[in-house]
Amino acid sequence: MSNNREQWSSKTNFILAAAGSAVGLGNIWKFPYIAGENGGAAFLFIYMICIVIIGLPILNIEILLGRATQKNPVGAFRALSGKPFWTYVGALGVFASFTILSFYSIVGGWSVAYTIEALKGFTFDTPQVAGEFFELKNSNPLWIMGYHTAFFLGVVGIILSGVRAGLERASKYLMPALFFILAILVVQGLVLPDANQGVSFLFEPDWSKINAQTFLLALGHAFFTLSLGMGAMMTYGSYLSDKDDIVNASYLVAFLDTFIAIMAGVAIFTVVFSSGYDPTAGPGLVFHVLPPLLSQLTGGYFFALLFFLLLTIAAITSAISILEVSVSYLVDEVKYSRKKATLIMGTLVYVASIPCALSFNILADVTFLGTGLTFFDMADYLASNFLLPLGGFFLAIFAGYVWKVDEVVKNLLIGNSRSIYFGNSILKSKSFVAVLSFLIRYVSPISIFLVFLYQFGWI
Ligand code: TRP
Repeated sequence: MSNNREQWSSKTNFILAAAGSAVGLGNIWKFPYIAGENGGAAFLFIYMICIVIIGLPILNIEILLGRATQKNPVGAFRALSGKPFWTYVGALGVFASFTILSFYSIVGGWSVAYTIEALKGFTFDTPQVAGEFFELKNSNPLWIMGYHTAFFLGVVGIILSGVRAGLERASKYLMPALFFILAILVVQGLVLPDANQGVSFLFEPDWSKINAQTFLLALGHAFFTLSLGMGAMMTYGSYLSDKDDIVNASYLVAFLDTFIAIMAGVAIFTVVFSSGYDPTAGPGLVFHVLPPLLSQLTGGYFFALLFFLLLTIAAITSAISILEVSVSYLVDEVKYSRKKATLIMGTLVYVASIPCALSFNILADVTFLGTGLTFFDMADYLASNFLLPLGGFFLAIFAGYVWKVDEVVKNLLIGNSRSIYFGNSILKSKSFVAVLSFLIRYVSPISIFLVFLYQFGWI
């Protein structure tokens, strides 16, 4: 595979970049509010099952397809199957990258805005006042577009610098910073009065909260949080060399991602419960409830600032992986330079995100037929509950039936010889291969299919 494609400088840096992609707004903004609305621990439990039996196998496959072909999603499917159908599946990924980034960068913009507000110092007495501030600010299209643009330019700047100098360097410095900040916030949360209520909300399941809808949400979120189903991990895998072990890297990325979501949950719910607030605030949890609660703690100025800095960092290292998918597509398939590809895709995605930004003001009343969803809501809903699981479904079918499990295992073994975490025997063990094969061929596609049937009201 001698082309002049850039590669990560080490496996550790790949893991940091992949963890940077996985750990994002999904962990810090979305997970706490979805868990809050769906019974806390009960949701966490189902979500973790989805991560282990569906997320992990698909994460391995995505990284593997990238590494094996050294190509973007469209090129990867074309190289391995030669059938036009599969190139459309790759193209679906490029489309999903547009959809996701168009709402993701709005939340990224809010994170930047709130970091600046925190720097000035929050002065809200109650979440209600903070909520009114949030709505008032968002009613001004220039405010929301301004911060969104700032965030977006940061993302484009990193992508322009390339794989090593951009993507890799950003994650290498920002991920340790993120972990450090989160650790401070967790400790701060745990020492609060009544912190145990927040902790037990996350760890003591209330099974009565579980229903079919919970499975749909948990599955969609498992895809979203691990950056699966649209070729982001495939693209990152395409910058990996054959020397590097994918199985270990996947375990680590999935573990870090889940661990950080739980840490964020602890940091947030301890504060929420110790102030006697309700954890079911929805998407506004982080922007309405936290600013007043955090800033009223002793040393609250710094905790609030750290929190929004954390959110911004998490958003940036993920957003770059979303845009990179479409950029690598243009670079590989149309042979554009990275600069040209970034500017073209950056502009297109930027334009696509404008309706999402205007969903909070000028276009607030424009909703999709009978759903009540604005452009922003729709982009989020469409991606998590439809595009990503659909991409995951096709990936599992491709790996299980087109490329075939034997080939998957043979390729996974490449680079696995120096495995330090599990020894190099795991991939050679018959039972591991049998389990992997069962998960890829049956468990993943069938469960995704059932969730789809339920979603469309057919079961
Ligand atoms: N995983 C990121 C988060 O949790 C978001 C993300 C980055 C993503 N790349 C992706 C989601 C690719 C889906 C697909 O915030």
